[in-house]
Amino acid sequence: MPYLESLELQNHVADSLLRHNYNLDDLPDIFTQVDRENILLDSVKAFIAKPKGCFIGGEWMHSDTDSVIPVYEPFTGKVLNVIPNLSVSEVDEAVVAARKAFANPEWRGMKPMARQAMLLRLSDLVEENAEQLAQIESLDNGKSITGARAELSSAINHIRYMAGWCSKIEGKVNTVSASGQQHAYTLKEPVGVVAGIIPWNFPLVMAVWKIIPALVTGCTVILKPAEQTPLSALRLAELIAEAGFPKGVVNVITGTGVQVGAALASHPGINKIAFTGSTAVGKSIGKSAMENITRVSLELGGKSPLIVFADADIDKVIKGAANAIFYNQGQVCCAGSRLYIHRDIHDKVVAGIAAIADSLTLASGLDASCGMAPLVSKPHQLRVNGYIAQGLSEGAKLATKRSIVEGDGYFVAPTVLTDTHNAMAVVREEIFGPVLVVQAFEDEEEALRLANDSSYGLGASIWSNDLTRVHRLIPQIEAGVVWVNTHNLGDPSQPFGGYKQSGIGREQGREQLDMFLETKSVWIDLN
Ligand code: NAI
Ligand code: MG
Repeated sequence: MPYLESLELQNHVADSLLRHNYNLDDLPDIFTQVDRENILLDSVKAFIAKPKGCFIGGEWMHSDTDSVIPVYEPFTGKVLNVIPNLSVSEVDEAVVAARKAFANPEWRGMKPMARQAMLLRLSDLVEENAEQLAQIESLDNGKSITGARAELSSAINHIRYMAGWCSKIEGKVNTVSASGQQHAYTLKEPVGVVAGIIPWNFPLVMAVWKIIPALVTGCTVILKPAEQTPLSALRLAELIAEAGFPKGVVNVITGTGVQVGAALASHPGINKIAFTGSTAVGKSIGKSAMENITRVSLELGGKSPLIVFADADIDKVIKGAANAIFYNQGQVCCAGSRLYIHRDIHDKVVAGIAAIADSLTLASGLDASCGMAPLVSKPHQLRVNGYIAQGLSEGAKLATKRSIVEGDGYFVAPTVLTDTHNAMAVVREEIFGPVLVVQAFEDEEEALRLANDSSYGLGASIWSNDLTRVHRLIPQIEAGVVWVNTHNLGDPSQPFGGYKQSGIGREQGREQLDMFLETKSVWIDLN
């Protein structure tokens, strides 16, 4: 594979761009359109325009294949650059590089404190480049820069929290319970080469959630970002190289899910797959993983309910519910997308949420006035609008004022649908957009039954100040996360993951590390 910087390669990328009716000269025009506040750093513009390759074995390589994927800017719908769609044999090269790095004594023998120091160095580099990364994220995904900045803080916190675990991974001495004289203990060992396959909704945070626990436990990793939002992961790879990790310990490869994702998921050289994305793809990855008995953790979709009782603080509910569904344009796996409200306060709460929805300004994510940014892609915009139309045709009522948003940007109007019931597709399926479905309930028993009536079980929130009721309900909720009088909170110390078809395994917290470790039982005969 030739080096990315070569002239030959630059010509290749220019050709690919032209094939997509795009010319690098268009970039300044896109930047002017999205960046009316003039906040974009020169380093961001330079990074976006630079030809994109993959980071394999510590080198920036460009694919030998001619196949590329355009990277779109969601406010203008224009192409920012292209990324390689690696061939299956190039995926193989990445696996070989990661396997080699796993066996390399420079990494295998590195002391936990040294690994921890390297991770802390990386966290400092991410912090020094936080504004740049946030701008790249906002341009690529479309999201608001305010949200992107908050995600950068959370990514930095994750790295720093996890770095501390490097020196605290330990087995234990077991007292043999039945008979004999043996010294028995366990060792915790890195599982090997990890494949991280991630979605487009929180591209950098997801990259960090996959890469960092792998490094903490001494694994090596191949990350495949979503083809819609590859840019921040590619920038992160540059910072990882700068932090000094040995070659091949972290690899970032790009391409489509059906080609590159599937090749990784079925590769016998992968020891563990950490996936976040749709339940449908999670099932397919799970099946291919089992062909090789590859360890697999899945963070999948959700349809998380809010259950609101009449004694709740109504103002807090209105703001909290609007935020639970409209944050990140509703493209959040644990978004509060189903609202069950006690009949007595239904109309008041719906009116309050609808008023917030109607007041949100649709704008470029870089615009300070942005209340609702575009969605990630054209197909996703069409999909979400399709759900709204389907809900209305099945009898739901629109409580908000706006409908289809015209124009180049991938906008969907923040939408509240009332008079829904649990048989409707808009209530059963993950829409992954700014669409809230609402139902009234009579009593606690009905609320609980409706909330649990879902194939998903990621998050749920209870809104009430009745302590007895809240504690009575928490154990009965079928979800991996339960919030009370809030929604969507997260922290590196608190495990996150789903019940039912929302996934297998937990991320964040000490629990996450178990999925990157093998347990070895050791017996020493003392007779
Ligand atoms: P997806 O599940 O297809 O994509 C997620 C990742 O998996 C991407 O990196 C993709 O390239 C990869 N992938 C796709 N097909 C694959 C395959 N056969 N083998 C291996 N890897 C594969 O999600 P998509 O299509 O972008 O979004 C569709 C819907 O999925 C959304 O509308 C939403 O409902 C849900 N979703 C849920 C997410 C969550 O965090 N729970 C995140 C993203 C999407
Ligand atoms: Mg994009």
